[in-house]
Amino acid sequence: MSRIVDWPARMREVAGFVGLDQNELEIIQSTRELVLARGEELTAAVYDHFLKFPETRRFFLDEDGEVNEEKLERRKRSLMRWLTGSIDFKIDEDYPIRLLATGIVHSHPPSHRAHLGSIPSRFMIGSISFIQTALAQIFQEEINDPREAQRASVAWNKMLMVQLDILQAGYVNETPTEATGEAPAGPDFE
Ligand code: HEM
Repeated sequence: MSRIVDWPARMREVAGFVGLDQNELEIIQSTRELVLARGEELTAAVYDHFLKFPETRRFFLDEDGEVNEEKLERRKRSLMRWLTGSIDFKIDEDYPIRLLATGIVHSHPPSHRAHLGSIPSRFMIGSISFIQTALAQIFQEEINDPREAQRASVAWNKMLMVQLDILQAGYVNETPTEATGEAPAGPDFE
């Protein structure tokens, strides 16, 4: 059955549901320098964490069971690109589609790592949680006013949840209903 989804509309719906507003997008942008300054440290911590658990570590090993440092560096750079792109999070036509593609790379393994299977969705959720905690720690350390630090954490938390919904979309099978705004199945072509 074909399913047609208006991804920007879905993202707007979730943003509305978690209460992410324009003011919070501006708060996120105001953290740019901080996130850029400590982003590499953060992404390195994410990958150190992956390497601690066999179920996530296995994605970064060579055939001989050793960590492939080159692959790891590439992955850290991808995560850093995603993180810095997140500072300018917005709901346009492109953003949700790029995010969807990132999610699909994890849920549907490309042929070169087909033997490893999907990256389990629980680790996508766990990674977002790890990143939220690390950002909260950075804001607490670097922003003098504790209320401002908390506002920055809250804004990032909400925005990362909106992203997580789309990152997970390739894993989730939901029954479409009219209420989701998804178009009904089209005709079957021979
Ligand atoms: C917050 C969650 C995550 C984000 C935002 C993220 C982000 C990214 C991005 C932007 C890419 C590059 C995609 C591309 O080339 O088009 C990528 C690739 C990759 N990520 Fe993640 N990632 C996340 C979680 C994970 C986890 C939990 C694992 C495994 C434990 C993982 C393993 C990989 C691997 C193996 C690739 C290479 C995909 C390929 O084979 O081409 N990622 N990730």
